[in-house]
Amino acid sequence: MEYVIKANKLSREFNNKGTVKKAVQDLTFTVQKGTIFGLLGPNGAGKSTTIKMMNTLLLPSSGELEVLGYNIYKDEKKIRTKIGFLYGGETGLYWQLSGRDNLRYFGSLFKIPTDVLEERIDYWLGRLGLTNAQHQLTMRYSKGMKQRLHIARTLIHEPELLFMDEPTLGLDPEGTKDLREIMLDLKARGKTIILTTHDMEEAEELCDEIAFIMDGRIITKGTIEELQEMYEEENRYEIELSEYPKLSMKKMENGIIIETPITVSNGNTIINISVPKTQVAERVFGEIVSQLVPFNIRQLVRKKMELRKIYLEIVSGQTKGNQTVS
Ligand SMILES: Nc1ncnc2c1ncn2[C@@H]1O[C@H](COP(=O)(O)OP(=O)(O)OP(=O)(O)O)[C@@H](O)[C@H]1O
Ligand SMILES: [Mg+2]
Repeated sequence: MEYVIKANKLSREFNNKGTVKKAVQDLTFTVQKGTIFGLLGPNGAGKSTTIKMMNTLLLPSSGELEVLGYNIYKDEKKIRTKIGFLYGGETGLYWQLSGRDNLRYFGSLFKIPTDVLEERIDYWLGRLGLTNAQHQLTMRYSKGMKQRLHIARTLIHEPELLFMDEPTLGLDPEGTKDLREIMLDLKARGKTIILTTHDMEEAEELCDEIAFIMDGRIITKGTIEELQEMYEEENRYEIELSEYPKLSMKKMENGIIIETPITVSNGNTIINISVPKTQVAERVFGEIVSQLVPFNIRQLVRKKMELRKIYLEIVSGQTKGNQTVS
């Protein structure tokens, strides 16, 4: 397996008028090449600080960090030519230049031959819906247009590894959709993306692997399936029948909950059943399913726990933990 990030006990402190803030503590993780890796967690958790260490804008207070096989302490310059960092906001673009001239300027920093650069600029302006606005001064761009230009700026040198810190912030639904497609395209081309977002649906749609950070520490990490397995206390099934079942549906002793069947628009009936992860409950569930067979089962699906729920579970778990301590 090829890793683009290898972080070992990475920490970063900030000294604020004598008080030391531990923004990030002992982070150990790896990111595999060609994947989208999500760094999730509440405001102030340490996500941007972690990203800034990986993209060499901030030195760690301690710990080891390799980016694209290079040591951040020794090979900062080599790393910088191969990465892109999307941070958005009001800085990082030249307001007195047009959108196109901004991209020409940033492209020239990477010494991209003019003909290649002009072609790339056309491509990204088109892909990001900025072709018509390309000659306008950037200061006249709307917030979302600036963000689109930021995206083009980040991609102009075709970086191997991309850091995207809340990239869809300020984008309209179409821009959000475009950017998500771009991220998936980049991944398909073998690029790696490290993403932070507060949009759990976005993370669920895009991320291959996720690390949850709180108070500067990794609380949990894994693929979405692994997190679901870890946090799901019960399996939830949705069963679709073409006939309304004549069964007495009530709360059962072994913790299985069968919800009242509902008839949906196509005339079929849906029953939701939660089954605790115990052998007894699973066996009883099997019996329930066989009882439902005469009512013509059209579909039986296991419903996955949404990432949003996993997030809330993690955050509330942490709160409970803090309360116990205090
Ligand atoms: N330059 C700095 N000086 C002092 N403290 C800082 C600095 N940068 C970050 N911090 C502190 O470090 C902690 C982590 O901040 P960070 O910006 O990494 O959080 P985040 O997870 O990106 O949050 P958000 O979701 O709000 O963007 C916060 O307590 C923040 O106040
Ligand atoms: Mg941040």
